[in-house]
Amino acid sequence: MSLTLGFIGLGAILSHHLAGLKENPEFKVVSVCDLDPEKVERWSQELGCRGFVDYRDLLAAPPDVALVALPHGLHCEATVEALRAGCHVLVEKPMAVSVDECRRMLEAARQYGRHLGVAETAGLQPGPALTGKKFRAGDLGRFFTGSILNERFYFHEGRPAWFLDPALSGGGMFSNVGLHRLATARACLPGLTPVSVSASVSHIPEYQVEACTSALVRYREGGAMLYEEVGYFPRPEWLNVGTHFIFEEGIVKWDDRAWRMMTRKGQQVEEPLSPAGTSYSPVYANLLRAIREGDSEAWEYAVDTAIAQAAYASAREGREIDLTRPPWAITKDI
Ligand SMILES: NC(=O)c1ccc[n+]([C@@H]2O[C@H](COP(=O)([O-])OP(=O)(O)OC[C@H]3O[C@@H](n4cnc5c(N)ncnc54)[C@H](O)[C@@H]3O)[C@@H](O)[C@H]2O)c1
Repeated sequence: MSLTLGFIGLGAILSHHLAGLKENPEFKVVSVCDLDPEKVERWSQELGCRGFVDYRDLLAAPPDVALVALPHGLHCEATVEALRAGCHVLVEKPMAVSVDECRRMLEAARQYGRHLGVAETAGLQPGPALTGKKFRAGDLGRFFTGSILNERFYFHEGRPAWFLDPALSGGGMFSNVGLHRLATARACLPGLTPVSVSASVSHIPEYQVEACTSALVRYREGGAMLYEEVGYFPRPEWLNVGTHFIFEEGIVKWDDRAWRMMTRKGQQVEEPLSPAGTSYSPVYANLLRAIREGDSEAWEYAVDTAIAQAAYASAREGREIDLTRPPWAITKDI
């Protein structure tokens, strides 16, 4: 099966998508769109396809799949329009900037009978995938706790201004790149249900989006994940950032080459990991599989958006937020 693809948004992430598409030749780019006519000219020439400055014109000759890679506050409208036009949609992460918008997108996919996927790369990488496989098989026992600390300079000059405008971005580092951490945990802990989030969010006067978030997410089945996303200074070499998961049977960590566990009896287990390829290669492979099988996981990405936005609400209101109740609850049935 060969699928035509139209790009809506030709920004920094485009080259990563093109690298992933090289490893998934079933997709053929037939149209591109951006508000910036120079980008349209450059990429339509380079890819030998049609170019548009208004995505509604691109959707007038709908490709099989529309990739929505716009500022986050525009994801919902463009996705719904593309679904209505008859496209399957791959929308960049975060799926949207609010739970309501995620719901509208999920409902539109259902109403128009098209697939909705989210271009989230982290959970599809070999380390989380192997952890999730072992957890699902019962090899790791119960999940107890886990922690992910990410620290990098978020406010660099190369960052487009819209990322720092809460209306267009939906927030700062936690609701943007922090979603990679939520996707990692989701991949490692399949079947667990996040039920609450309690967070602290810190701002510095220069920026409207946060500088730093710490969030604790509890699961119905027991255990909790702690996330720290720190964005307002460069990472010192000596800072020990990273990811680990503690299961009943041992402590789990991985890098690009190997998955490791120290069991409760102190035994060191190590398994080699195959190279991941480019980061978007598994996204397109997964999209193709999901379209073929009629399978949709988009609601799980909506849960990630719910957690991030509920973390901000928790910090504003100074209380733990219940993710199982309106307005935050998202399930497979929406
Ligand atoms: N998975 C990852 O690691 C990763 C990394 C970077 C970005 N992203 C995501 O990719 C998406 C795009 O980010 P980016 O870094 O490419 O941003 P960017 O600012 O570089 O690009 C956004 C593009 O959208 C265009 N645009 C804005 N409004 C438009 C409209 N109404 N119609 C058509 N074009 C419009 C802009 O002109 C710009 O070219 C975001 O969702 C972002 O979070 C993901």
